[in-house]
Amino acid sequence: MFTLFGATGDLSMRKILPALFVAHRDAKLHASGRIICVSKQSFSRDEYLDWVSKNAVQYVKGSESVNPNDAVWQSFLARIDYLPLDLVEPTGYQRLAELLAENKVVSVFYLATSPLLFERICANLAASTIDLSQARVVLEKPLGHDLRSSHAINDAVARVFAEDQIYRIDHYLGKESVQNLLALRFANSLFEPLWRRESIAHVQLTIAEQLGVEGRGEFYDGTGALRDMVQNHLLQLLCTVAMEPPTSFDANAVRDEKVRVLRALRPFSAEDLELRAVRGQYVAGAVNNQSVPGYLQEPGIGTHSQTETFVALHAEINNWRWAGVPFFLRTGKRLAHRAAEIIITFRPVPHAILPMPFGPSGTVSNRLVIRLQPDESIQLHCLAKQPGDGMIMQPVALDLSFDQAFQQRRAEAYERLLLDAIRGNLSLFVRRDEQEAAWKWVEPLLNHWQSSASPPKPYMAGSWGPTASFAMMARAGAQWPEDR
Ligand code: BG6
Repeated sequence: MFTLFGATGDLSMRKILPALFVAHRDAKLHASGRIICVSKQSFSRDEYLDWVSKNAVQYVKGSESVNPNDAVWQSFLARIDYLPLDLVEPTGYQRLAELLAENKVVSVFYLATSPLLFERICANLAASTIDLSQARVVLEKPLGHDLRSSHAINDAVARVFAEDQIYRIDHYLGKESVQNLLALRFANSLFEPLWRRESIAHVQLTIAEQLGVEGRGEFYDGTGALRDMVQNHLLQLLCTVAMEPPTSFDANAVRDEKVRVLRALRPFSAEDLELRAVRGQYVAGAVNNQSVPGYLQEPGIGTHSQTETFVALHAEINNWRWAGVPFFLRTGKRLAHRAAEIIITFRPVPHAILPMPFGPSGTVSNRLVIRLQPDESIQLHCLAKQPGDGMIMQPVALDLSFDQAFQQRRAEAYERLLLDAIRGNLSLFVRRDEQEAAWKWVEPLLNHWQSSASPPKPYMAGSWGPTASFAMMARAGAQWPEDR
């Protein structure tokens, strides 16, 4: 039984219900499994199903797309019950208990609501007659806005559910490409001997978006890119690149290694806060040749808002494998392209016997480029001799495109994560200690920016962020790829 709290919200329409539909269509849901959609809106079941058909169908994308009249969509709707409920009031939960009692399969409670409601929802579930002993609870981000508030949320949920019943979503962990990064590292012996400070000069992790705040102005203005993208998605990617090989693929073995990386992140010194961290905010510009307004002109944004829509950081991991290797993290809204990629730059050859090409930051060296989106690929950039006379070196890429190598459709992140929650596989969910270690690392930066007199650096929508981000790289003797 899958209970979706916040069932009329944006996330439910865009991600959760489309993902459940695809799982239903692919016969991955238990034949008798039902979906109980809960929200405070006083819809009848028919009204709610109409709402879902109007609002969720468009997000079932690509080859999966579906028409609301299709039999398969109608059979999906037949699984859904709707329960209007005041989430903070214990009384209505009895009706939920009755619906759940009709079916004895494991209950999954998905909390796609404001985290401010998590405590009440969990307490009301506990006070009802619902049997929670085998249940699972899925928590959507943001889980707090700093370490203290995340502690409070985790404590409240822990009063009702044990840690191994709690599934904290970071949808980046559900992306096929992130799993492929694990496969690249732990199913191939080729890279492991090179995966360390002796061979790697630096690592860059970028999540660039063309989108702006997309009708979420009010939420975003109180959040900013550091909380929205760095504390979770970028740090999870960093852990996937930097963790030690776990002893098994068991959820806790993997999560033990990730938390070690987070705890080894070098804390920001006063100097780092100035020199190794850049925050930016977009001003009006053009994305894909379309004019777009600046952040301050977006609906729901405070006139003098200092919320960052761009962050670039120079991080380091204090352990034997990585000491001294810069990890550059970058994310932003309204950037030139949508791209998520990891670039591992290897050290140049120790002694060049051939004439090596030079880039602005020295001899060109090997790079491993792992592209997560929009298209998924891995490229190994090598140097090769240009055909013809002389020994003229030129970078060439050994290219693995996953689209070409695999014809099968690849599941969306939410599809995989929802099925994992239903099946009880915690590997791709964030454990409490990971989440809190990530907050602990970003918190000095949050506090510094909050009290700082200097506002975020402006950048034009459609660019690659403020020039300060390029300057930060130059100080470390590196460059973002657009600067080459
Ligand atoms: C979400 C953020 O977690 O991730 C959004 O809240 C962001 O602001 C989104 O747009 C990006 O996800 P993806 O999968 O489109 O890269």
